[in-house]
Amino acid sequence: MPTLRLPGLIDPHVHLREPGGEYKEDFESGTKAALAGGITLVLVMPNTRPPLIDSDSLALAETAAAQRAVCDWGIHLGASPENTLTAADLAPRVSGLKFYLDATFGPLHLQDLRTLREHFARFPKDRPILCHAEGRTVAAVLMCAHLEGRSVHICHVSRQEEIEIIRDAKMRGIQVTCEVCAHHLYLSTDDIAHLGEGRSEVRPRLASPADQAALWRNLEFVDCFATDHAPHLLSEKDSSNPPPGFPGLETSFALMLRAVHEGRLTLEGLVERMVHAPRRIFDLPEQPDTWIEVDPDLVWQPSAHNTVSRARWTPFEGWKLRGRVIRTVLRGKEVYQQGMFQVQPGAGRNVAPIARRDFAT
Ligand code: DOR
Ligand code: ZN
Ligand code: ZN
Repeated sequence: MPTLRLPGLIDPHVHLREPGGEYKEDFESGTKAALAGGITLVLVMPNTRPPLIDSDSLALAETAAAQRAVCDWGIHLGASPENTLTAADLAPRVSGLKFYLDATFGPLHLQDLRTLREHFARFPKDRPILCHAEGRTVAAVLMCAHLEGRSVHICHVSRQEEIEIIRDAKMRGIQVTCEVCAHHLYLSTDDIAHLGEGRSEVRPRLASPADQAALWRNLEFVDCFATDHAPHLLSEKDSSNPPPGFPGLETSFALMLRAVHEGRLTLEGLVERMVHAPRRIFDLPEQPDTWIEVDPDLVWQPSAHNTVSRARWTPFEGWKLRGRVIRTVLRGKEVYQQGMFQVQPGAGRNVAPIARRDFAT
């Protein structure tokens, strides 16, 4: 196949660890990893230290991103019991309101149903709400969103029971969208033995082969592919208390291209889920003159030795992937080419509604 030219990819679910965890990743290392993976716009998660739940903490991340990000960016605000009254005022500065409803990495964990409902009632209906919700929690979230007459986005769907209730809700007209990660499509509990316990820790956990098959079977109900890039160092993954998460920015697109080569997904279906749907769901601006060039047949092996991310490891070590980004162009400027970056820290722009006027210029 000849070189492919595709629009810059959009990843609505990325952990970049600023503020507070820069040794794992910062806005520069993380957004460079994004460019190398063909991603030109990242929406970053609020489970940092401190968590991003108010104006001051949000400003820490905004400043760091403005100084260091090399691709375009938006920040999701974290929902907490303390910010039910203030989250709506911050909506113009953020790309969405994120709920952690099941246990995962970091301090943000919201369990009380009344708090959830209060947030759903107050946050502007035309701004995105997204949830880390697993198993039965998905049903609770769908009901709360439905009662408020608003849409909700379910992050990293990994299990059969989750994709099936989302499918059935969609078929009845309930406003729900969802994302699936490449690691849940390509890894399962069958891989834990060879990966090792610590290195296979991720939330949601790797699911059973039956769950994995259900995701593939229901791909038409999957709106987006997100990386859930969650960098932790190998020393941490191999410790006695391994944090959950996989790096994904550099491998996700190639894994989804693998699905195209395997005949499980069309190229149009890939672009829909990695560009158009995230732009629509998260109400993101067009990125003018922004594209990636891909050698669809180049065979390469992801490896700890060649990651741009500070995580310096990958659960796909040794896999043979076919198809790789060879060039990334952001607003008319070549910013990445075959392992080399030519971009100033801070070149990325904020996609938040409040910054939209600057975005176009
Ligand atoms: O595995 C995960 N890691 N799942 C999450 O929800 C959070 C993430 C992280 O921040 O490390
Ligand atoms: Zn999550
Ligand atoms: Zn996440």
